[in-house]
Amino acid sequence: MSVLPILRWPDPRLAEICSPIDDITPEIETLAADMLETMYAAPGRGLAGPQVGAMRRIFVMDTGWKEGKSDPIVCINPMLQEISEERATAEEGCLSIPGVTAQISRPAQVQMVWTGLNGGRYVQGFAGFAAVCVQHELDHLDGVVTFDHLTTADRSDLIAKYQAQ
Ligand code: NI
Repeated sequence: MSVLPILRWPDPRLAEICSPIDDITPEIETLAADMLETMYAAPGRGLAGPQVGAMRRIFVMDTGWKEGKSDPIVCINPMLQEISEERATAEEGCLSIPGVTAQISRPAQVQMVWTGLNGGRYVQGFAGFAAVCVQHELDHLDGVVTFDHLTTADRSDLIAKYQAQ
């Protein structure tokens, strides 16, 4: 396994829509292992394919590892099936936008379906920080980053703060 370089905004690859994964090849297995290692090294709780230049619909997530409750998941071709009407606002950071965070409102609970590395189909509900994380990582697969959720004024302010670092 290896730690991969993490792309930083405004790398144009972070604004692209990623393509589905048709087959779980050895290359995809290696990519998933490298993405997990890269995420832990960062250190972060989620990492999406395009953040390491892999323009495919895959992300890795482990929301509890920093608290000693490691539960890594590899999500291939993830999709939201249900989203709650209730919304929640959380402060979100991003490994590709280091040094700044944004307050973002999203559905508070979501149900996601995805394919695992073993080819199995998974369906799971997420709430709290995990719901934020899966929506944040899904956004990356569609070329969306935290800045894109902000009003024009807030976006300009935060980008200026990011670029002034
Ligand atoms: Ni991110």
